[in-house]
Amino acid sequence: MTGYIDWSTDYDIFDKGYIENPFSIWDDLREKCPIAHTDRWGESWLPTEYDTVTKMAREPELFSSREILVVPPVGVGTGPYGVTTGAPISVDAPVHTWTRRQLLPAFSPRAVDELEVFTRAWCRELMDNLVRKDQADIAVEYAQQIPAQVIATMLGVPTTMKDQFTTWVRNTLEAGLANPELRIQARDELQVFFMSEIIKRRESGSTDDLIGELVHAEHEGEPFPDDLILGMCGLLLIAGVDTTWSGIGSSLWHLATNKEDRDRLVREPELIPSAVEEFLRAYSPVTMARLVNDDMEYQGCPMKAGDRVLMAFPAANRDPKHFDRPNEVIIDREHNRHVAFGAGIHRCVGSNLARMEMRVAIEEFLARVPDFELRDDAEVTWAGGQVRGPRTIPVNFNKKNAH
Ligand code: HEM
Repeated sequence: MTGYIDWSTDYDIFDKGYIENPFSIWDDLREKCPIAHTDRWGESWLPTEYDTVTKMAREPELFSSREILVVPPVGVGTGPYGVTTGAPISVDAPVHTWTRRQLLPAFSPRAVDELEVFTRAWCRELMDNLVRKDQADIAVEYAQQIPAQVIATMLGVPTTMKDQFTTWVRNTLEAGLANPELRIQARDELQVFFMSEIIKRRESGSTDDLIGELVHAEHEGEPFPDDLILGMCGLLLIAGVDTTWSGIGSSLWHLATNKEDRDRLVREPELIPSAVEEFLRAYSPVTMARLVNDDMEYQGCPMKAGDRVLMAFPAANRDPKHFDRPNEVIIDREHNRHVAFGAGIHRCVGSNLARMEMRVAIEEFLARVPDFELRDDAEVTWAGGQVRGPRTIPVNFNKKNAH
């Protein structure tokens, strides 16, 4: 931890200690100060109880999604195409309602089933390369490689773009938070790229992929404006990559450090779906922000219009009032109504897809490398703040059992 922090009045979600181990901090806050406050990063409130977080997520009239990032966006509206929003995540009703509705079919259980074959084949290809080695960084060489490939396929852009996608996402959400130049550059490049893809679909009339569907979508008889489509494409990329990669990474990190759970999932692969739910609960990656609409007193807190509130879904998921033994990972947990995908009108559109990617990634990994372990805990690095997950997981493979 970087120096002393009074977490109830001066928390810092970008603090190294918080990123690596926020769990005891949340436990403490829930007891002493269930809605904490800080002046850092433009002032915000942090609710840590399940009931409060889920209630707030269902009160969009009090808490707006106009800004969902803790570090405010850079150069609003000044990109090459003046894009300011990533609908539906960063807009309120009524725009939220029709932009979200437009996306839902592409992420339905049936649509996701169709993507499973491709996702599995891609995981197998990655594993073909990994099993040749004795050791690997499974965050970089495996977890990171999966979601960008899947979303590129859905958007209908060349999968060779996936490394570029990963760089843009990291420069927007991680490195870019402390480095506005990097963030602006990523945003501009991303917009130029997606604009050229939009123009291609407009010229060809193609609706074969998600970008094509957005280009030819209408609201009240009018096509969606370009800046809206650009914002939606950018959101799909950012929402789909960092989050899922973090989810896969945290799951594999857990398995690399817990032999008992690893062996059990190898023996009983039918438990993998419930293990995925438990990994989502225990290592929830995503915390999104809201803006307070009007001055008000909320559960005794004097909130002012424009204050940020952090929807700490990960903290809610460790609340002992809702989960028995919340700080234990129980891969066959029976009651698991976690809110890793949020709650209320902004609940994750991509949850079916994310679950499928996590399940398939774990199934394919364990099928080829049933035995592996962390090389050195000190070498593991975590990214955090609004999307938490491991960014390096160096492991040794026990080759006796790999195939
Ligand atoms: C493990 C992976 C994922 C997690 C934990 C996650 C989590 C979340 C959360 C917590 C929200 C709500 C945000 C809020 O209340 O402000 C959200 C919204 C959203 N997510 Fe995900 N997500 C994941 C994967 C994905 C994927 C793969 C996609 C699509 C490619 C996606 C697309 C979206 C979209 C479009 C929204 C906005 C929904 C709306 O505002 O109506 N997510 N996600």
